[in-house]
Amino acid sequence: MNSPAMQGLNLNTPAYVKNGKLIAWVADMAALCKPDAIYWCDGSQDEYDRMCQQLVDAGTFKKLNPAKRPGSYLALSDPSDVARVEDRTYICSARKEDAGPTNNWMAPVDMRATLQPLFDGCMKGRTMYVVPFSMGPLGSHIAHIGVELTDSAYVVVNQKLMTRMGKAVHDVLGTDGEFVPCMHTVGAPLAEGQKDTTAWPCNPTVKYIVHYPETREIWSYGSGYGGNALLGKKCLALRIASNMGRDQGWLAEHMLILGVTNPQGKKYHVAAAFPSACGKTNFSMLVPPEAGFAGWKVTTIGDDIAWIKPHADGKMYAINPEAGYFGVAPGTNMHTNPNCMLSLNRDVIFTNVALTDDGDVWWEGMEKDTGSLPPHLIDWQGKDWTPEIAKQTGAKAAHPNSRFTVAATNNPALDPQWDDADGVAIDAFIFGGRRSTTVPLVTEARTWMEGVYMAATMGSETTAAAFGAQGVVRRDPFAMLPFCGYNMSDYFQHWLDMEHKLESMGHTLPKIFCVNWFRKDEAGKFVWPGYGENMRVLKWMIDRIEGQAQGEETMFGLAPTYGELNWTGLDFSSEQFKTVTQIDKAAWVEELKLHATHFEQLAYHLPKELLDTKAELEKRLATA
Ligand code: OXD
Ligand code: MN
Repeated sequence: MNSPAMQGLNLNTPAYVKNGKLIAWVADMAALCKPDAIYWCDGSQDEYDRMCQQLVDAGTFKKLNPAKRPGSYLALSDPSDVARVEDRTYICSARKEDAGPTNNWMAPVDMRATLQPLFDGCMKGRTMYVVPFSMGPLGSHIAHIGVELTDSAYVVVNQKLMTRMGKAVHDVLGTDGEFVPCMHTVGAPLAEGQKDTTAWPCNPTVKYIVHYPETREIWSYGSGYGGNALLGKKCLALRIASNMGRDQGWLAEHMLILGVTNPQGKKYHVAAAFPSACGKTNFSMLVPPEAGFAGWKVTTIGDDIAWIKPHADGKMYAINPEAGYFGVAPGTNMHTNPNCMLSLNRDVIFTNVALTDDGDVWWEGMEKDTGSLPPHLIDWQGKDWTPEIAKQTGAKAAHPNSRFTVAATNNPALDPQWDDADGVAIDAFIFGGRRSTTVPLVTEARTWMEGVYMAATMGSETTAAAFGAQGVVRRDPFAMLPFCGYNMSDYFQHWLDMEHKLESMGHTLPKIFCVNWFRKDEAGKFVWPGYGENMRVLKWMIDRIEGQAQGEETMFGLAPTYGELNWTGLDFSSEQFKTVTQIDKAAWVEELKLHATHFEQLAYHLPKELLDTKAELEKRLATA
């Protein structure tokens, strides 16, 4: 009764699509969602240009001034749809314990019963786009394929920039290749003859971002924004892939990957985890200071996600599953991230930044480059903005979570191996939070176990003044709190098991470092200059890898002495160094109590070794 053919809907399957399971699934989903038409995306430039024009015609996109920002567009979203919705994100494993205490959970049968009526007819009046994409280089043994069905043309053009998307994916899929089915709808069906009254259709009240880890499915309803809608990113590459990694012995991590080459041409690779909005994109595109670092080069492999697999040669190899950057715009400028600014010169989709009177874009932080605020803008909500209005009302011209979407190939610092099917060998892992006190600038874990402890307890302070000057620490283990698709304690165990597995295979384990760029002085000011100056810390890590720096023992790992960092070109006194590195005994007594509370919340399946490590740290602290 309900098949698309019975509805008179033609599947329009192109001849190059040969995967029977895919064709059957598209037919089933079309029967459920009842779109007016089905369109199979081929990923061509021509298709991209046509769809961007279609979005311009619909009022979703504004084409930016081609003399200022060629090939670029601005989208303003519905004000209710501006970020990932963690409280509407679910891991629907068969057993609640497998989702764990850090994820929302509903039994799969109940969630399916909830979603069924929502998806029934959800694409009426719209086109269902079939978007095949590869997370990772096409055909790489580390890569995985997803197919997203969406009724959002905005999603299609973003996926073109963010993933390897299109016809070539069908060649890899062949007749019986595996793919992760990713269902997406903005949840705003149109009745017969009804037209959109908004340029950003979404469901203002009902949103669900659902993952079924056992069957490796993603179902997203109601939002058209970012990680809620670009399902390759957080949903597939982290939540579903973390499950694949656990089952298959690899790691799916919320990590940037960078290459760093010394003046002699020796190259190292580092993967680094920071919570959202802690400068991952900036670190992945770091420009070393001119003074003291002549001949050093940092290159980007990825800015957000890493898939890492042990290899027979004794090393861990990482790929960036993505092919573009979906980065936060505000705060980005020629000081904080020159390579990013240069990446944004052309062929960019901007979302929720402000529009200048000459048809260009603007966001808070750009005044640092020009020396002044623009006299007039259209803000992210389409309203007039002037410096006076901002002063009176505090209105931001760009939404704090406004974004750019840009292909990695726009990045002038792109690593030559970024698309290498085998990935790059990781020399070190870095874990960093945002802490105004307590956690030092950098320490090295003495053991893999201690590194896992550092990562398991990392956290970020909320910035809201309402929480008091110091902020409230939100623990964000491995920066994976919103992204781990299974029980967090089992995830810790997976990391611990990796050590034994790698050692039994004769592997050299990458070093693990813990960093904190965000310590403040008594006046509440950041002490460490950050950005390009982080190269000084990166260099110390390389010196440690090469055995050229000794470091000194602290209760929380091995720390650099003042003399071990290269200070050429930076005026940073040993007093200031002390401010960012000092271990405050009283603060750590409190910190370890907070670790205890954190572990109590994760008690189910918590590896005992973490509690043993905590006891050791307490002992060290007592004798410090
Ligand atoms: C992101 C995030 O968008 O971590 O990358 O929130
Ligand atoms: Mn992220």
